Order: sequence, then C-alpha cells, then structure tokens
Amino acid sequence: MPELIYLDHAATTPLSRCALEAMMPYLTEEFGNPSSIYQPGRKARTALDNAREKIASLFGAHPDEIYFTSGGTESDNWVIRAAEEFGDKRKRLVVSSVEHHAVLKPAQEMQRRGFELSLLPVDRSCRVLPETLRKEADEKTALVSVMMANNEVGTIMPIAELASTAHEVGAWFHTDAVQAAGHIPINVEKLGIDMMSFSAHKFGGPKGIGGLYLRRGIRAGPGQLGGGQERGLRAGTENVAGAVGMAAALEESCRRMEENASRIAALRDRLIRGVLQIPGAILTGDPKNRLPGNASFLFEGASGEAIVFLLDRSGICASSGSACSAGALEPSHVLLAMGYSEEAARSSLRLTLGEENTEADVTEVLKVLPGIISRLRAE
Ligand SMILES: Cc1ncc(COP(=O)(O)O)c(C=O)c1O
Repeated sequence: MPELIYLDHAATTPLSRCALEAMMPYLTEEFGNPSSIYQPGRKARTALDNAREKIASLFGAHPDEIYFTSGGTESDNWVIRAAEEFGDKRKRLVVSSVEHHAVLKPAQEMQRRGFELSLLPVDRSCRVLPETLRKEADEKTALVSVMMANNEVGTIMPIAELASTAHEVGAWFHTDAVQAAGHIPINVEKLGIDMMSFSAHKFGGPKGIGGLYLRRGIRAGPGQLGGGQERGLRAGTENVAGAVGMAAALEESCRRMEENASRIAALRDRLIRGVLQIPGAILTGDPKNRLPGNASFLFEGASGEAIVFLLDRSGICASSGSACSAGALEPSHVLLAMGYSEEAARSSLRLTLGEENTEADVTEVLKVLPGIISRLRAE
C-alpha cells in the first residue's frame, strides 16, 4: 500500500514532533493539577503560565488576555454569546455570511433570543469589503465578527480595515483566526482586534485545545461556570499538556512561517496551474489574498463528494465544501454566498497543503485528477 498523500490540512494537521516532545512530561510524570498548592501542582501551574506567556507574545498580546479553551468552536461560542454584555442598547450582531458554523449557529441562537442579526455579504472572491460593513454596522451593534481567513476557499480578509470600521460605531471586533493562526502573521494590537479565536490542531498542535484572546477591559463571560480557573472566566481543570503543546507548535510555526509559507505557496501555485488545465475547472477564493496552503476549485459537471471518494481510492486525502447533513448533500454556504449556484457549489474540491507535502505529491494529484473528472463527467 503506497503512502497516503494528505491534502486536508484545513481539517487538521499532524501533531508536530516538538509539540509532542513538549507535552510528554505533562502526560506522564508531571501530572499535577495546576490549582494544587504542593510541588507537582506548582510545576503544572508554571508550565501553564509559560505556555500562556509564549502564546501571548507570539500574538502581540498580554498573558492575562489569553484564555485556554477546548478549541475554536468553544472560543467562538463564548464570544458570540457574550454579546449580551456589550451594552444595554446594543442588541445587534454583525457577522459575515461565510463564517464557520461555530460562529453562525450561536449567532442564530442570539437572534432567537432577541438580537438583530445582520449577515455581511462577500464578493466573488469571498472578501468582506469594509464599505459593506460600514453600511451594516451602527450604534446598536454590540459585536462584529469576521474570520481572518476562510476555511473553505482560503481567502484572507482585510482585518485591520474591518476592525477599525467596527470601532467607528463603538462595536467590538472579533475574528475567528482558526485557519490563519500559525500560517500568516498576526499581531492583535496592530490589527486592532478585540477578541480572537484560535485552535492548536490547525497548526501542528494537539486536538481539543485552543484559546481566546480577550482584550483587557472587555467584560465577556464567564464562558463556562464552575471553579475559578482562567481567572474565573473559563471553569474546568486546565489541559496542561494541551496548552504546552499548543504553545510549542505555535512557536515553531511562527519561527518557520516565512520559509514554510513561501515553499508551500509555491507548491500550491503549481497545483493550481496544473488543475486549471482541466477543462471547466474554476479556482475559488481570492487568487492573491489566500492562505499559502489553500487550493480550492469547482468542476462543472462533477460531484465534489465523488471526486473526494475517487481521490481517496488513489490514496489522496482531500475534502469537498459540501457537508452531508441528514443524508442530503448540502451545498456549501460559503460558495453560495460567493454567488455560485447550488449545482456549482456541489462540485467543489478543497486541497490544503502543509509542511510535509512535496513536489511528488503535487505531481501525483495532477496525474490522477484529470482522469477522475473526465470519468465523473461521463457518468
Ligand atoms: C474557521 C474555523 N473556525 C472554527 C473551527 C472549529 O475549530 P475546532 O475544531 O478547534 O473546534 C474550524 C475548524 O475547522 C474552522 O475552520
């Protein structure tokens, strides 16, 4: 059995060796609870504090602005549900229509609880334009939430402009940076971000740990009730090994960001050029402002799910924007918001490259994909 070619790094990434090594002591002999006052507890507390400091400095934040959570979903839910606390007269949420469901679903819940919800349209390349936000945000807006980079098509949003537009009307600005963190430079201060969600397993860290950056002075939460962990805002015994692994993975990703981004983007561009040779193939997302590893397409007349299935038979792991819910194949809300038809949206393929991918991987995809598309179109 030949080795698998993994091209789904937007779904999750392999655990990096440095993250594993950093975590090992806290999964074995250093098992103390950071709330305990005796020596093993103190050691765990120190490890947690160090992880928090490292993450804060990599994002240009203060350590007391970083809260550990179980991942991107929890961080997003926390922030959106906290909108109620952002001012009595502010009962409006403005979020982009291409957000992950971890933002959209709690936003819809807030709407059921009496909030006004405004979904920002995107252009054909999946960008939210600051002028679009300017029209939608007003003095009743509690929170604006626009993701830093889209998980399906990889488009990077103009975050600094969007944040300052939100601030013009006195709203807080949250960004879901789950796909961006560790892949593109982020400085919360320079970008004017008030709240930011991130998740370790998208940048070589372990699954089930993430974080929320919450600017000093913002009252949001508690996200979870119980003990007094995370300064009383997120109860529950901390995932010490996870936090340590996340910090190590983020540090390594940031240290190697430039080198990795240029190498991966070169592979991506070769992949895109090759795939666009297939008749009727369309590149989705912004051709320039996109994540280094994202290559996403539409193939008129072929089903995305079937392409993924046949690629898998050739040992290639990929994904389609379509989500299978209750047995029905739902076209991606992202592609629909970008103006593609339901039929086009059902023909999507997302290939997301990572550090371990090689020229040979790209060559293999370019060898098998044209045949798969022709075969599906002939069916
Ligand atoms: C943009 C975005 N937000 C949130 C999430 C959810 O993150 P997690 O898996 O850490 O809960 C994902 C996961 O794919 C994502 O891509």
